[in-house]
Amino acid sequence: MRHTPLMLSLAAALALSACAKNETPATAATPAASSTAAAAPATQAAAVTDEHSFSQPDKVRTTDLALDLAVDFAKKTLSGTATLTLDWVDPTATQLILDTRDLNIAKIEGQGADGQWAPLQFKLADTADKVLGTKLTIETPERPKLVRVTYSTSPNASGLQWLDPAMTAGKKQPFMFSQSQQIHARSWVPLQDTPQVRFTYTAHVTAPKDAMVLMSADNDPKAARDGDYTFKMPQAIPSYLLAIAAGDLVFQPITDTAGVWAEPSMAKPAATEFADTGKMIDTAGSLYGPYRWGRYDILVLPPSFPYGGMENPRLTFATPTVIVGDKSLVSLVAHELAHSWSGNLVTFSTAKDAWLNEGLTSYVENRLVEALYGKERSDMELVISRNELKAEFNDENKSLQRLAGKPGDLKDPDDNLSSTVYTKGAWFMQFLEQRYGREAFDAFLRGYFDHFAFQSISSQQFADYAKANLLDKYPGKVTQEEFDAWLYEPGIPTTAPQIVSPKFDAVDAARKAWLEDGTLPAADATGKWTTQEWVHFIEGMPATLNTSQMAALDAAYKFTGTPNAEIAQRWYPLAVRSGYTQANEAIAAFLQKIGRRKLIMPTYNELAKTPEGLKLAEATFAKAKPGYHPITTGSVQSVIDAAKNPKPAQQ
Ligand code: BES
Ligand code: ZN
Repeated sequence: MRHTPLMLSLAAALALSACAKNETPATAATPAASSTAAAAPATQAAAVTDEHSFSQPDKVRTTDLALDLAVDFAKKTLSGTATLTLDWVDPTATQLILDTRDLNIAKIEGQGADGQWAPLQFKLADTADKVLGTKLTIETPERPKLVRVTYSTSPNASGLQWLDPAMTAGKKQPFMFSQSQQIHARSWVPLQDTPQVRFTYTAHVTAPKDAMVLMSADNDPKAARDGDYTFKMPQAIPSYLLAIAAGDLVFQPITDTAGVWAEPSMAKPAATEFADTGKMIDTAGSLYGPYRWGRYDILVLPPSFPYGGMENPRLTFATPTVIVGDKSLVSLVAHELAHSWSGNLVTFSTAKDAWLNEGLTSYVENRLVEALYGKERSDMELVISRNELKAEFNDENKSLQRLAGKPGDLKDPDDNLSSTVYTKGAWFMQFLEQRYGREAFDAFLRGYFDHFAFQSISSQQFADYAKANLLDKYPGKVTQEEFDAWLYEPGIPTTAPQIVSPKFDAVDAARKAWLEDGTLPAADATGKWTTQEWVHFIEGMPATLNTSQMAALDAAYKFTGTPNAEIAQRWYPLAVRSGYTQANEAIAAFLQKIGRRKLIMPTYNELAKTPEGLKLAEATFAKAKPGYHPITTGSVQSVIDAAKNPKPAQQ
């Protein structure tokens, strides 16, 4: 995936101006952890510093979180208590430092050895860092085992979206959901917001009686909808996997252990689209070891969800835009499910190592797509993502092209959605698979997931493990230089395996013929095209077409107004570049309906390039904004601001 370089650089610029004026939590250290997988998590944390958290996991670590929260739709707040169970790693530590953002803290107490709760002194930093939030320092001279924070969230919490009934499918009840990755959990829970700390959690959540509440935990498909819910997550997870949603949600089973939660009108179509989920779980399990999380359910969110999917454990959050009727976009489920191994089980220890989550996951996703839908389809998906990577690398900052990020490269961890971590990361894995052979490489990955299960690791630990279990074990297949080029150099290594896709060759030929003399591809061929072929057909067009060419394509294929947002993502920027204003109304409708950044940002970016386009972008944004997630609002606002004021605004 796959966000545009423009978006990334703008967000980075914003982040930079924010970082300059405030304290940064720590100067980054070079990962120095050894490959010893048996090393206790505490040892690893001491070795790798997370630039994106104020908390100091080398001093104290949260082992359990108990939440007691009330959902208030009228006030748009969560309020209650968060009780942290602490393991004091440093016996001389006297402070507990937590990450927060826009939280109102009412009081903080510690439980003494006598079991009595007593108030603790605390201080919220005077200035909030734009990226990192507000450091909360709690004086804990007695190093209590339990610390309880009484607090409420802000209606603008960056990790929550509150939807009015009008923004839901049913239009009757309000809706709320969280998006904690990368560092937004701190906007709804005061905690050590770093993937180096893993904790179990329990929650008691109250809500209006007609709202169903779900979390990234043991959701019961038969739970009574009574406004009072309890949850338990017995496996230790990093904070970015903490998730909650509330609204008019019903359950539709797919198998005995997998199902869909959605608004009533979406539940059946979603379960039909995702009918192969059980097969995906079985396939992934046979390749990489058992699925260790109990149930696997998918929560289908309203279209304002800012991502395609989010791998919240036991409950993937998903955009409804992949429900297109022909299962052509269910690689999203394969992806989020794959995170049950790469990411949720073996987790990156800092966002700089995001490729360990997203690259391995994109590789596994592609393997699942191949196993379920065949190599033609999985290859088409690879070509689409690699074309995107090549385009991005043409103008992207070289430092963001390295898989193993260097300290300071990544200001705002929300920016690490570039093709580097996804596509180059997956390509690296495919390179290793090709050199070692599928059998050996599958066994390697399976061993890797077992070895580091429930730990957070660095790129260096991956490299050490691969050296011992691939490079040294099967000498003569991959040199250390070749391996290191993938991990530490920018660009695409010369050793990258190439894909040949006969399906796409046919699409290329069809496009070429049409461009040459206007002959449309044969209807019996296009009749069988799936989303991937249409996407490739449009992406291969010249930068602009003339209005009659655009109109001819529209007459034949009705791209303008397409219900398939992946096609819209490619067609509307071409329409804008080509001055095809007939599409403007449909563009405005698309940008207002959907909040998934990947789908809408290319069109906003294109609109922002001309004065007339910018006008349409601003007018549309004004109408769409109340329905956008804070993350999407931030991205669109940056593009508009940068277009109006070419030098990034200093704040
Ligand atoms: N974990 C990511 C989403 C994410 C990454 C959120 C970084 C915040 C920061 C999720 O697994 C993901 O990759 N989603 C993709 C879909 C996928 C099919 C590539 C997305 O949202 O587009
Ligand atoms: Zn992912």
